[in-house]
Amino acid sequence: MEKVYPHGDRSWWLHDRFGMFIHWGVYSVPARGEWVHTRGEIMPEDYQRYAEFFTPDKFDPAAWAKAAKYAGMKYVVFTAKHHDGYCMWNSAYTDYKADRDYVKEIVEAFRAEGIRTGLYYSLLDWHHKDFLVDRYHPLRRLDREELNKNRDMKRYCQYMRDQVRELLTNYGKIDIMWFDFTYPFPDGKCAEDWEAEKLLAMIRELAPDILIDDRMGLPGSGDFVSPEQYVPHNGMRDKDGNMLYWEGCQTFSGAWGYNRDESTWKTPHQLINMLVSHVGKGGNLLLNVGPDARGRFDKRAMNALNAIGEWMELNSDSIYGCTLPPAEFPVPEDCRYTYNPATKKLYLHLLAYPVKFVFLPNLKGKVKFARFLNDHSEVPMRAANAEHSNITPKLEQNILMLQIPAIAPDTLVPVIELTLK
Ligand code: GLC
Repeated sequence: MEKVYPHGDRSWWLHDRFGMFIHWGVYSVPARGEWVHTRGEIMPEDYQRYAEFFTPDKFDPAAWAKAAKYAGMKYVVFTAKHHDGYCMWNSAYTDYKADRDYVKEIVEAFRAEGIRTGLYYSLLDWHHKDFLVDRYHPLRRLDREELNKNRDMKRYCQYMRDQVRELLTNYGKIDIMWFDFTYPFPDGKCAEDWEAEKLLAMIRELAPDILIDDRMGLPGSGDFVSPEQYVPHNGMRDKDGNMLYWEGCQTFSGAWGYNRDESTWKTPHQLINMLVSHVGKGGNLLLNVGPDARGRFDKRAMNALNAIGEWMELNSDSIYGCTLPPAEFPVPEDCRYTYNPATKKLYLHLLAYPVKFVFLPNLKGKVKFARFLNDHSEVPMRAANAEHSNITPKLEQNILMLQIPAIAPDTLVPVIELTLK
């Protein structure tokens, strides 16, 4: 039997649905993603040089918060410490840290925009002297036995608890702690290595309402599960098919940390599709920005955020407070549904714009009114017509037919709001 753990307050999170992930640290200097330290097997003394040249003279957290707000994001999760171990706040427990308290400035700036705050804390630490060298460590190919001789994970676990306590007591109310990650295969690390039970108990004591992800390696302890870089086709479910609380985390391109040379950026249409797909499958979306080494969201990131914001400005009713549609309404071709159970509104997203009619199975007689969200203009519902006509379709029973204008509304993914009877 799985152990039963206490949980935080998911109510706001379920409503808000959309957050910003921020991966920012000294790895923005080499600009090849946040794993560069170990992928490149860069030796510690070389990697540490990046701290010296991490000079974010354009850092403006208020601008970040504004960009997130405009995109419609309601919470932020910032990397206080990533796997490289470099701390983005003024921790009393290490010297390997920024000379400025970025955590403080960031949480304050986002709160000022009414955005909730969360912190990412890496369980891995490639800098800490007590962290046992394992399969992911930058020093993995050196004499491991020798390197690990005096390392002591117990001391490292104490360090983690001390730091997490700092983060949860010095920065006002933190809404989410996002730990990353457990790899319990040979030569990896599991919950026992992190003393996860102890860490978790400490957090729940300090902040009973806080939300914690599921990556500490204690099944059932997370307030949500965290699929990464893909959209689960039927949402995330337990073995009996029940929907789990879940949040997909996604990048604009491939890496989480700033990657200068990547050219695999998703288009605005893909991003909106992704957002709608998360919500329509019962999940949240945590969408990542990797600011550059000067502390800016680069043009590509800003363009993406602005495109999402432009869409959200008119269509966010189909996101906030929404979830998957009732199972009795199969999703029509080329579409996605989201559903607001409180208002009984079903939102139909047209991912590809059809010709003249949209056919909605099982909705005949069940809709009070249909309109576009972007301008609230009516979308007429049409009855099936004469048997022999060539210009109107013969419909199976139960199909509701909407007649849409020839020209698609001027919004990236048009949304039709269906108020159910
Ligand atoms: C991964 C990576 C990491 C990233 C995280 C975000 O597990 O290790 O770099 O921070 O996913 O979900």
